[in-house]
Amino acid sequence: MQFAERMSRLGTETAFEVLVRARALEAQGRSIVHLEIGEPDFDTPSNITEAAIEALRKGETHYTPSAGIPQVREAIAQHISQSRDIEVGPQNVILTPGAKPIMFFAILALVDPGDEVIYPNPGFPIYESMINFVGGKAVPLPLRMEREFRFDHDELRALVNDKTRMIIINSPQNPTGGILEEEDLRLVAELAQKHDCIVLSDEIYERLVYDKPHHSITTIPGMLERTIILDGFSKTYAMTGWRLGYGVMPEELAQRMAKLATNNHSCVASFEQYAAIEALTGPQDEVETMRQEFEARRNMIVEGLNQIPGFRCVMPGGAFYAFPNIEETGKASEWLADYLLHEAGVACLKGEAFGEHGRGFIRFSYANSRKNIQEALERIDTAIRKL
Ligand SMILES: Cc1ncc(COP(=O)(O)O)c(C=O)c1O
Repeated sequence: MQFAERMSRLGTETAFEVLVRARALEAQGRSIVHLEIGEPDFDTPSNITEAAIEALRKGETHYTPSAGIPQVREAIAQHISQSRDIEVGPQNVILTPGAKPIMFFAILALVDPGDEVIYPNPGFPIYESMINFVGGKAVPLPLRMEREFRFDHDELRALVNDKTRMIIINSPQNPTGGILEEEDLRLVAELAQKHDCIVLSDEIYERLVYDKPHHSITTIPGMLERTIILDGFSKTYAMTGWRLGYGVMPEELAQRMAKLATNNHSCVASFEQYAAIEALTGPQDEVETMRQEFEARRNMIVEGLNQIPGFRCVMPGGAFYAFPNIEETGKASEWLADYLLHEAGVACLKGEAFGEHGRGFIRFSYANSRKNIQEALERIDTAIRKL
């Protein structure tokens, strides 16, 4: 079969491949601790599930407007306005099946072939994949462990120029758990305004912060007009399988994204939109319980990883990932991730699955029980001491 040339430029997410390999080992009777996939191990809070069931029973089983029903766009606009301390309305909101399409649609709508897009590296692999797919030039912005995975200001200054169309930022970050500080956001804002760039601000882990409050770049004067906030329900409400996410952006862009949605998926499942309203406007105590549990797991995994010979792990400020440097084990990250899967029965990801600047690191998702994390730490320690 002859494929379109652009298909050769499409990347992927290694987590799904490792999951398949880990499941194949389990099918052979091996015990595997899953620290590869980035999804909460909790069930969706029952008030949200009940809202979806009730909507189904009421017959909410038909097409809706592509951007979402007015009530859900209003609920999202209110949530974003309150949580970010900005003012947005339903006309700025687009609901999508998962938050991922916001990346794809934003890049499709704004990036022409040859346009430069700066993206975090190591970072969520779909940014680079989508930039390349549309024919843009993907310009990696290194995140530095010695800066707790913030970028170096001089490095960013040197990368932005008049060909830069978009700057992608992500805080809290996947795969490092790092958080951008206000001074980092101020620099991005200054450069974006000077060079007339759009900012895609991936804030999907906004509610999962442990030490400091989240800051959105949209609070900086002049930035709401040129920023797309990406957020969703997957991580905050343990709803990965529902596929519910959204973007908040200037109205003229929201209209074009709605057109992309019409062309692509028509609309998000109608009954889920009622569950989304319940998620945002119903009780939030389970979100806080999950956050506290993630924090306890974070402290446990980081302490344990730092006791393993050759591992050096900084304390991540958010999300649910630990990203230790493993260079002092003397092994390459790809080799080590494979060794840990087969020798220790611990599924994890090589750092370069998140870009070249991830080489020498391993990503562990601590979205698993403390018991399983403890088991994984013991298994990793035993396997590394055998090297
Ligand atoms: C940084 C980041 N952005 C976006 C997403 C996509 O989320 P969703 O599952 O809602 O599409 C993920 C999922 O892993 C992520 O880590």
